[in-house]
Amino acid sequence: MPFPAIRAGETLRGQALGEVMVAPENSGLSPGDLVVHFLGWRDYAAVPVTQCRKVRDDLPDRVTHLGHGSTAYAALTRGIHVRPGDTAFISSGGGAIGSMAAQIARLHGAARVIGSTSTREKADRLVMGLGYDAAIYRGGAPISQQLAEAAPEGIDVFVDNVGGEQFQAGVIACREGARVVVMGTLSQQLAAGRGRGAPITLDSAHILMKRLLIRGYSADDNPEAQQEWEQHLGEWLRSGQLRFPHVIVDGLAEAPQALEQTIRGGHLGTVIVKV
Ligand SMILES: NC(=O)c1ccc[n+]([C@@H]2O[C@H](COP(=O)([O-])OP(=O)(O)OC[C@H]3O[C@@H](n4cnc5c(N)ncnc54)[C@H](OP(=O)(O)O)[C@@H]3O)[C@@H](O)[C@H]2O)c1
Repeated sequence: MPFPAIRAGETLRGQALGEVMVAPENSGLSPGDLVVHFLGWRDYAAVPVTQCRKVRDDLPDRVTHLGHGSTAYAALTRGIHVRPGDTAFISSGGGAIGSMAAQIARLHGAARVIGSTSTREKADRLVMGLGYDAAIYRGGAPISQQLAEAAPEGIDVFVDNVGGEQFQAGVIACREGARVVVMGTLSQQLAAGRGRGAPITLDSAHILMKRLLIRGYSADDNPEAQQEWEQHLGEWLRSGQLRFPHVIVDGLAEAPQALEQTIRGGHLGTVIVKV
């Protein structure tokens, strides 16, 4: 979900992964345990036990706890259901959610996965590096035209992180019975002059005649999916069925540049700042 704006002097927010140094007796936590929290990025933090989530420490790489694999997993197994043979369209396919959603859709049997991004060069990287069957990009031909070419028979699943023109194009491309999960509104959040929304015109006949399911979804809606995800995450990483596309930026001082680069589309996958 979009986070509130950060003001000067506030601690940078976002999921943080850390190791317990000391913990109260009977808290269920011990020194050395790995925990995730949302209380800001710091070298050391005094964090209420109730706001820490202990995570397993048997994954091939600890950083895989970060990012939005669990969000994408919950969206595709709870928000809507991806089914074998589906054609899926993931807007912002190279982002933290999108790069995991594409792989999770495939692991659930999606036959064709299409992503969107910002440039032709990045579209090539989605296909060559992230396993998309096809990728479309902003600033080229109209998105609806590119999507019709990439999915001539339409789409069954649409994970929308972007909104605006891409949401409109995705709904038009939907086949009968398609399922749409709305995760974010990047075109509104990140466009210059943001805050004005990303209004579009949508013919509701598309929704009615094609019996579409369109659902706004937050991973917070299904906290139980987290444990299931972590189970799969370990199995899929070890078997090589899943990758965790990410970039690590070294040092808290680099965080502002990392954020700027992320917004400009300079990275693929999850951007992690190592404090
Ligand atoms: N529902 C939930 O539970 C939940 C949870 C977390 C986050 N979210 C939301 O889901 C969305 C995706 O999150 P994320 O973490 O995957 O994002 P992210 O990785 O931070 O996405 C950043 C990417 O957005 C793209 N972008 C930049 N400007 C854009 C524009 N004007 N229009 C469209 N795309 C633009 C760029 O990629 P390209 O260069 O590839 O275009 C950039 O790399 C966000 O809206 C976020 O707030 C939802």
